[in-house]
Amino acid sequence: MMDRFDILVVGELNVDLILNQLPSLPEKGKEILAKEMTLTLGSSSAIFASNASILGNKVAFLGKIGDDSFGDLVVESLEQKKVNTEFIIKSATEKTGVTIVLNYGEDRAMVTYPGAMEAMTLDDIHEDVMLKARHMHVSSIYLQPGIKNDIVKLFEKAKSLGLTTSLDMQWDPEEKWDIDVKRLLPLVDVFLPNETELLALTGQKDIESAILNIKPYINILAIKMGNKGSRGIEGGKDILKSPYLNDKVVDAIGAGDSFNSGFITKYLAGESLESCLSYGNLAGAVNTTTAGGTGAFVSLKEFRKTASVRYGA
Ligand SMILES: Nc1ncnc2c1ncn2[C@@H]1O[C@H](COP(=O)(O)OP(=O)(O)O)[C@@H](O)[C@H]1O
Ligand SMILES: [Mg+2]
Repeated sequence: MMDRFDILVVGELNVDLILNQLPSLPEKGKEILAKEMTLTLGSSSAIFASNASILGNKVAFLGKIGDDSFGDLVVESLEQKKVNTEFIIKSATEKTGVTIVLNYGEDRAMVTYPGAMEAMTLDDIHEDVMLKARHMHVSSIYLQPGIKNDIVKLFEKAKSLGLTTSLDMQWDPEEKWDIDVKRLLPLVDVFLPNETELLALTGQKDIESAILNIKPYINILAIKMGNKGSRGIEGGKDILKSPYLNDKVVDAIGAGDSFNSGFITKYLAGESLESCLSYGNLAGAVNTTTAGGTGAFVSLKEFRKTASVRYGA
């Protein structure tokens, strides 16, 4: 039998079209010119998959794209990071999603066309593919209604097939937070929200109440806290882990996904909660040294070099 994949990522895929150096934000009926443009792989799940692969995991992706040139770009970009793309589904009817980002000084305006990511359902996720991996990571469920509606069934399936699991639900644009926490979280081995998402999900005003609220249902909870680092809770353990301080942050796009990739790398290696948090923080901090979510993750050698030069790690 072939070696199993370490991680199967089930998630959304899209491209980001980023327009920079605008003279202003656009107005109705007028046209403005951008001085710089980047077309690149977008999506939180893809950033996680790419960076987990660079950190040494064998990663496969299961997602939906269109049969179009943006879809080709998505596949090529993942393959460049040695992520297996054979399970990515090309829809004949849906188009690959795109986010157009208009950067104007410190401000940004974004328009997203979700496209094929909205069309993936539980039926697209076959048992034989799941059996090829030892861990399933799911991200951005509120951007994927077809997945969200069956999220409990998806995690039940993974657990019954013997996989360990992780979830970064990400922000809910509709702010309904309508998942069945009591049934879902017991099936999630590592739950990875940030502070704002945890408060919104639990409907609490402070973090301590939010933790108490979901404590009966969680296995490992890793809370991302931006430049305050992270906090891990598992059974009787409650560990606050200070960040690797970066006084020259380029941007924090993808920092949460990079944190996830570092945390899960150590989790799959069977290391302690403290070591998972620490490596997650390091991956998040390295992420902030370049623009975008994958720029700092070119090779494991480069990652280690940045970690050592910038953070003495
Ligand atoms: N400015 C920063 N300096 C150092 N580390 C950071 C910084 N911003 C984020 N990180 C690291 O990246 C992790 C994830 O970032 P965070 O912004 O909390 O996630 P999310 O993008 O999901 O909101 C943090 O827990 C922290 O370890
Ligand atoms: Mg996040």
